[in-house]
Amino acid sequence: MSLLTVRSVNQSYGGSHTLWDVNIDVTPGSRTCLMGRNGMGKTTLLKCIMGLLPTTSGAITFRGSDIGNLSAENRARLGIGYVPQGRDIFPQLTVEENLRVGLGARKDRSRSVPPQIFELFPVLKKMLGRRGGDLSGGQQQQLAIGRALVLQPSLLILDEPTEGIQPNIVHEIGDVILRLNKEAGVTVLLVEQKLPFARRVASEFLILEKGRCVADGTIDKLTDAVVRDHLSV
Ligand SMILES: Nc1ncnc2c1ncn2[C@@H]1O[C@H](COP(=O)(O)OP(=O)(O)O)[C@@H](O)[C@H]1O
Ligand SMILES: [Mg+2]
Repeated sequence: MSLLTVRSVNQSYGGSHTLWDVNIDVTPGSRTCLMGRNGMGKTTLLKCIMGLLPTTSGAITFRGSDIGNLSAENRARLGIGYVPQGRDIFPQLTVEENLRVGLGARKDRSRSVPPQIFELFPVLKKMLGRRGGDLSGGQQQQLAIGRALVLQPSLLILDEPTEGIQPNIVHEIGDVILRLNKEAGVTVLLVEQKLPFARRVASEFLILEKGRCVADGTIDKLTDAVVRDHLSV
């Protein structure tokens, strides 16, 4: 059974129809990479899954339950973590305060940040008192991922986590995604444009073109021909 399913989802921005009958099956334990050129609807789809944008039709289920009418906060409570594109941390708050923001949605109302987050990102522990806005881009991305993990999600959704980040941190982020998946059993759905990163990190892929799914499969099926047809600019 799928952990997350998206069935025939349509979405419009006003009169502009953006997602067309999109279907996705995210199997438990998988690492699915959502790909596609700029403006194809990847972020829009993730926002629909998170409840940050309304759909016009279709169904979204998580662990077999329809979540289509739940608020974004309630979807997060069910165990869906979200790292938005552009990181979106609070620049005026400290690292610790940014992490605590994520605790708001916890079921058990725990007030402490799980120590595993500092094992994954030792840099965050060193910088707990720094303001988010003073961190480097890569450190802000690590903070954004850490904030999503405070909820100990079973599904982690990341929107272009390596965008605009220096190569050594890109590699570290790849390591963290693989560790979370393999050691903590977290299922991953990510948007990624960098092909080597996608091939290293993902187990499955799915390509959106003008708001429609045009290709999917296990990552070994992401051949150069598929890349040429759907991803090259
Ligand atoms: N808030 C918005 N209002 C109107 N159109 C939007 C909005 N956000 C995105 N779009 C449009 O929807 C399409 C898909 O955008 P997006 O989901 O951000 O693409 P991607 O993440 O694949 O680059 C684009 O044509 C974009 O211009
Ligand atoms: Mg996007």
